[in-house]
Order: sequence, then structure tokens, then C-alpha cells
Amino acid sequence: KKAKITIDREFKIGEIDKRLYGSFIEHLGRAVYGGIYELDHPESTEQGFRTDVIELVKELQVPIVRYPGGNMVSAYNWEDGVGPVSQRPKKLELAWRVIEPNYIGTNEFADWAKLAQTEVMMAVNLGTRGIDAARNLVEYCNHPSGSYWSDLRRSHGYKQPHAFKTWCLGNEMDGPWQVGHKTADEYGRLALETAKAMKLVDPTIELVACGSSNANMPTFPEWEATTLDHTYEEVDYLSLHQYYGNRSGDTANYLAKTLEMDDFIKTVIATCDYIKAKKRSKKTMHLSFDEWNVWFHSNQQDQEIEPWGIAPPQLEDVYTFEDALLVGSILMTLLRHADRVKMACMAQLVNVIAPIMTETGGSAWKQTIFYPYMHVSVFGRGTSLQPVVSSPKYDSKDFTDVPYLDSAVVWNEEKEELTIFLLNRDLEESLDLNIDIRSFSDYRLKEHIVLENDNLKAVNTVNQTAVKPHSNGNASLDAGTISTQLSKTSWNVIRLG
Ligand code: AHR
Repeated sequence: KKAKITIDREFKIGEIDKRLYGSFIEHLGRAVYGGIYELDHPESTEQGFRTDVIELVKELQVPIVRYPGGNMVSAYNWEDGVGPVSQRPKKLELAWRVIEPNYIGTNEFADWAKLAQTEVMMAVNLGTRGIDAARNLVEYCNHPSGSYWSDLRRSHGYKQPHAFKTWCLGNEMDGPWQVGHKTADEYGRLALETAKAMKLVDPTIELVACGSSNANMPTFPEWEATTLDHTYEEVDYLSLHQYYGNRSGDTANYLAKTLEMDDFIKTVIATCDYIKAKKRSKKTMHLSFDEWNVWFHSNQQDQEIEPWGIAPPQLEDVYTFEDALLVGSILMTLLRHADRVKMACMAQLVNVIAPIMTETGGSAWKQTIFYPYMHVSVFGRGTSLQPVVSSPKYDSKDFTDVPYLDSAVVWNEEKEELTIFLLNRDLEESLDLNIDIRSFSDYRLKEHIVLENDNLKAVNTVNQTAVKPHSNGNASLDAGTISTQLSKTSWNVIRLG
């Protein structure tokens, strides 16, 4: 099979906000306790943060991390997590039915984020709480001093405000499983009034309103329309969440699921623009795809967890090679919407449906999905370009006309680098590809990274990295055309500069 791509420096989709490569740490399973924090671990800082985990987070160059939930935030009292640790209450955490010891809270997470060279995306509780707790939290975190909550922060040892810029107005409030679940009208009203109060405390913050928990929710996309009808002028982003899985073991169909993701994004954009038109607004709403990943491997074992433990292993999916391919495709889908999707979070970062795993008391290791995430985060900064693609196609159980070739292109004008991300979805055959880059005639080929494996179900473990990329790809450049043969089911990164 043969495919062709034309790339031109004038075919611009949009500037990539670095927050497109965000991630997520929820107080859930071993993400915090036993993940980023383990007091007794030999590689931990005095405060208990695992430096081996921090090094891996830095390798990923994660620009922002959503915190503290997730479903957990909808019944969370943030005041429980500040002040002297010895005085913090142990509480029933209702979302995941565990005990939350509150050893880590807002201030400690801000400390961790500094060490990991990332920003914090804070979420407020709009399930059991509302305007008052949210505006107090903004005052506690962002107000310099001279008020009750800001002085309380200072008394807790944090003289400088955290200056958190990005805030989520609750989490998945459309979901009946959510503590304090609301109708779209109830949520829209509350989100609007909370947004107004939070911005009165700190007008520099940016706010994310909850969209649907996934595209299959019966209230999608009416939820988006109603929510935005209430909040349009006060919020800056609308969220999207979606998880994928290969439950039926149909890889051709699985790798096509980003077509569905693309439709999801387009529908949300259309809904935002409908409300924009309805309101005769000059403002364009941006999107925050702040939960995405593969999540299905651990579903069964999570049914068997006894309630009310502290940090039991939950959602510990062990990812396969084919999951890494889908993750690459998800990231490319986000890149092709870089004009509207400004933030996104791989959910999550450590131990819980995560690229980074830890052994309690032992090592930290990289899952298969670590690699495409790292490639796109590290090399995908700059302007997203629209590749013009001609590819053979296939049909699968749920999709028709699935291009074998999936691609995204990033031009970093400042560094004079061009990066081409490619996925060959073909399960059987390699793909002969020509890429016309004549508008980058002064660029030279630097590297062709490939992630490939004969076993679609290959996984990494603490002892063995069966799935890892190499730089021996076969791309060559001649007279403005790159020629390459992409191995079957392979993820590729071609770097020029
Ligand atoms: O990321 C795991 C969970 O998935 C989050 O807590 C929730 O927001 C979503 O349903």
C-alpha cells in the first residue's frame, strides 16, 4: 500500500498551547500515596516526594497537572488538606470509597508541582459545596495577604501566593455517579455564580466549565448547550472527557476510535459556536479535553476491592503496545484541533491509568503509553500544521473509511524544527509513504523514531521494557521529499531541522 502527505508552512491550524500536554493526579488509588508521595521511600525528599517519579514526570515535560479530582473533588473539603498534618482529619472519601488521610493537600501539591516543573490546574467542589468554598479556596491560594484566607495560608508556611491560573468548575457534574450530580440548568446556574465570585477574588484566573463525562451520555450535547447558555461570558473553556478500550479484542476497530474522538470534538465546537451565535458574542470558546486515555484493563479487578482502605491499588491498567498506538493517535487528534483545543490532560499520571508506575518501596517504571506521550509533549511545541493526506482506507466493525495512515505535523519556527507524527494502522502490512516538504527545503532529516513490536499485546513491567522506541527508522530525504516505509502497526516520529 502507498500513501502521500503534503506539508506546507502556510497550512496552519493554530498555535499549540503547551497545556495540551497536561496530565492529572487525583486522590485515587496509589496516585498520591505510593505514587508521587512515599515518605519512607529511599529516593524521597524530606517532604516525602519520590524523586524517581519526579524525574520521569520531567522526562515527559508535563506542563500542567489537574488536581485533586476527578470524582473525588465532588465531596472534598479542601480545608481538610491544609494546616498541620497531624491535625488533619481522616475522612470517608465517597467517590472511590476509601479513607482519605489528608497527608497531602493543596500546599504540598503546589510544592510537588514546583519540583516536577509543572503548573497546577485546580478543581473546585461543585458537588457537595459551591460558591463560598470555591471563592475561599481562590483567596487562600492566590490572594497575597491581608485577608482571612490568605493570612491563613501564610500562617501555614506559604508566604507567597500559589498563583494558580487554571481552575475547573467541578467535575463531570452530568454524571449520576457524581456526588452532588446536577441537571444542566442546576449546574449552569451554580457554575456561573461560582465563576463570578472566583473572578472577583482573582480576575486573572481562567475557568473551565464541565462538559459531558463522555460522548455517550444521554444528555450530550444538550448538556453543553444548556451549560454554556448560562456560563458563556464567564468561563474560558468547556471540558471534554473520554476513555477508550479494546474490550472485544478487535484491534482494527480499536485503532479507529480516534475517528469517534474527532467527531466528539467537532460536535462540541459546533455546540460552542451555536451558543456564541445565539448570544451574538464576540468570544470564541476554547476546549479543555481534560480527561482522556485508555481505561478498561483494570475494570474487573477493581470490582473486588474492599471499601475503606487507604490508597489501595485502583485503576492500575497495564498498557499494551496497541494501547500506545491509540494514545499516539489521540495526541495527533488533539493536535489537529489545536486552534480550539487548548488544554488536555492524559488521565492520569502515576499508577492510576498512568504512563508512570511505581512499586511501593521499589522502582518507578515506564508503561508503553509513556513513549508517544513523551514524543508529542517534547517535540510537539509550536504551530500545528494541516497535513494534506492521501491514504488507503479500511472498514471496521464500527467505522467506515478509516485511513491506514494517521498523522499530525508540528512546526517549531523558533527552533527551526519540523516534526511529523505518523501511525500506520495496518495490522498486516507496511505502508510506503512519500512526504512532500518542499516548503521546508532548507531543513535536514535529524531522526526517525519508531515504536514497533510484533506482539500487539506486549506490555512493560517493572523488570522488563519490552516496548520502547528506537531511532533506526528508514526515512530518507531527497529533493524535498521524504520517503519511508512505515512498519505495520507502528508509531513514528520524523524530526527535521
Ligand atoms: O480518571 C478517573 C475518573 O474518571 C475521574 O475521577 C472521573 O472524573 C472520570 O470519570
